[in-house]
Amino acid sequence: MSHDTTTELPAGRAPARPAGRTPEHTPALPAGRAAEQAPALPAGRSPEHTPERAPDRPTGRHRQTCPVAHTSLDPHPAYPPRPSYPPRTPHAPAVDRAEARKFTEDFHRETGAAAALEDRWQEIARQIDTTGTYVHTGAELTWGARVAWRNSARCIGRLYWNSLVVRDRREVHGTDDIAAECFQHLRATWRGGRIRPTITVFAPDAPGRRGPRIWNEQLIRYAGYVHPDGTLAGDGRNTGITTYATELGWHGRGGRFDVLPLIVDSPHEGVRWYPLPSDAVREVAIGHPEIPEVADLGLRWHAVPAISNMRLEIGGISYGAAPFNGWYLETEIGARNLVDADRYNVLPLLAHLMGLDMSSERTLWRDRALVELNRAVLHSFDAAGATITDHHVESERFLRHLRREEDAGRVCPADWSWIVPPVSGGLTPVYHRYYDEADLRPAFVLDEDGARRARGETPGVPRLP
Ligand code: ARG
Repeated sequence: MSHDTTTELPAGRAPARPAGRTPEHTPALPAGRAAEQAPALPAGRSPEHTPERAPDRPTGRHRQTCPVAHTSLDPHPAYPPRPSYPPRTPHAPAVDRAEARKFTEDFHRETGAAAALEDRWQEIARQIDTTGTYVHTGAELTWGARVAWRNSARCIGRLYWNSLVVRDRREVHGTDDIAAECFQHLRATWRGGRIRPTITVFAPDAPGRRGPRIWNEQLIRYAGYVHPDGTLAGDGRNTGITTYATELGWHGRGGRFDVLPLIVDSPHEGVRWYPLPSDAVREVAIGHPEIPEVADLGLRWHAVPAISNMRLEIGGISYGAAPFNGWYLETEIGARNLVDADRYNVLPLLAHLMGLDMSSERTLWRDRALVELNRAVLHSFDAAGATITDHHVESERFLRHLRREEDAGRVCPADWSWIVPPVSGGLTPVYHRYYDEADLRPAFVLDEDGARRARGETPGVPRLP
């Protein structure tokens, strides 16, 4: 969806807020990880899933204007930066030589460069001896990031792992420049709606020198506000980081879909926040192909899921800031984000609007509304020209990926509870088998520090008076 085709929901017609959620319902989902993805789910269902289009605009009374508030691109100098988040291990240890060796061997073997292995290893070993770490070549970094995706057991969308676009930004250090690169990442991945899986890699940790971090779990997330009466506005998953952003000086509008600022942490500059520029945030208004009133619910979602709090580990080197994105699988939005009771909880509203008999669970009103919501998500992304996949296609693709990996003589790790879609699981072929659960490297890792930052937890960070 391009900027000018983004649809806007009818102004001033926002329906009643989703039924109030109380703070104690605030979620504890595995922090999503795409290949990304990663949160205690109902019945063994994967909290998040990693990762195409049709006719006209979403049905409903839409206007073709950008629904995103235009905000300043600058950081907010009026607010002093906060001290950096104190990690449990302030200084990265020296690189583990065995891990570096294993990676270097795998890289040279798989990329057909076996003859160059020992020369390169001599160089790496020398760097580790003198500095405690080593510097990946551009080719090593690219291959390492792609294989980290390939190894992501929770991601159903790995068929295209080898085409991940890697933006090497290891030389970018300042928080202003890091934020600007994240915004540029979002613009670059968009391509008029033909989203391309992309990662931007910032400086790694090194002995005595920690690299930068991004606090947000994704580059684009909606704020969640708990009102004094205990009701929730916005995304209940993000209430912690919303509170933290507010303490930093950000002023949310208290709406249901306020995009949070990007919070960047560098050991030299501390923590600073940056509003996302409107041209970096593509959103899709949700309408239904046959039920025009669905548009009146005022639902929307951002088109690009870009995980930003997972570490990328390659050959013993840890990249703490390496945001990456694929494209959405419709169930992520239509069966989790808008549906979880502690998030947008829209099924009761939708079922009511559909006139379903909600007198008993046995009428399966939730299930019927759920299917229609997933149709609405697919329909709306298609109408906006924004890449999205569905759980039937993606399940077939995943099994194709699995066969390719086996043909290449490799293990393909997969976590059943994340791979099986949260809608119509048994209808998809991925449901009817078991998987290898190997923990392979390179990898995307969600460590406790990253998960806590994304929840807005600030142990050891002094509060402003
Ligand atoms: N489940 C997360 C969300 O709904 C996104 C995780 C990554 N997903 C992906 N398709 N790459 O925002």
